[in-house]
Amino acid sequence: MDSISANRRFWNRISGAYQDEHDARIGATPRLWGMYSIPDAHLNALGDVTGRRVLELGCGAGQWSRALAAEGADVVGFDLSEAQLAAAAGAMGAARYPLVQGAAEQLPFAAESFDLVFCDFGGLSWAPPHLAVPQAARVLRRGGRLVFNVAGPWFEACCDEAAGRVTTTLQRDYFGLDTIAEDEDQGATSYQLTYGDWVRVLRGAGLVIDDLVEPRPERGTPNGYNETDPPDWAHRWPAELLWVTHRP
Ligand SMILES: C[S@@+](CC[C@H](N)C(=O)[O-])C[C@H]1O[C@@H](n2cnc3c(N)ncnc32)[C@H](O)[C@@H]1O
Repeated sequence: MDSISANRRFWNRISGAYQDEHDARIGATPRLWGMYSIPDAHLNALGDVTGRRVLELGCGAGQWSRALAAEGADVVGFDLSEAQLAAAAGAMGAARYPLVQGAAEQLPFAAESFDLVFCDFGGLSWAPPHLAVPQAARVLRRGGRLVFNVAGPWFEACCDEAAGRVTTTLQRDYFGLDTIAEDEDQGATSYQLTYGDWVRVLRGAGLVIDDLVEPRPERGTPNGYNETDPPDWAHRWPAELLWVTHRP
């Protein structure tokens, strides 16, 4: 639970600048996944949400929640950061949806209250998965789905922190990536698992893995967040893991 307060401070601090830089691209059209803004229509990960009770776990400024509410989902936007939730409140469309503040590590929702829990680089990147995944599974009804996109270990292992870019050489060990420091010394942390650990955490929470989508952008598609060398890095190696699971 150590990173909750540091991550809250971090996202409250960077929210304004982050939204100035990224909001327009994240929300350019509904349902864009990840660092390369790949449409869900190409990946078929989320499915029809009409009339479904949906939880976005780490909704940020609510670009996804806003789109799903407009499609007729009964969405709750959930986030640790008050500043991020304020951005979501300010950007809400005609289809209103509730915003709830809290941590993915300790969800304040009753068991079996959602048909879909999902996020795109949200709570399952920023909370320890061995805590957040069982919480997500707990609030899913039977047959409900947990779908989420996170950075992949290839991407993290090739990341040259000093140069601030992702390279074609391994910079770090694959085993033991575990935690990624997100600011100098103030404790903000994101989390990274090996493929095997993801399988064990998901299955350990009682979930069935239906698919592991590896979003692959077309050559030349820009990464909205990280410099990469070569620029078409993610056309050649998987930058992200988009897990599709359900509670049986
Ligand atoms: C990269 S944003 C994801 C939102 C949106 N998809 C985007 O790309 O901007 C990460 C979000 O996770 C939230 N977050 C960080 N730690 C969290 C936690 N423990 N529980 C829930 N949300 C958390 C942050 O406040 C932030 O809004």
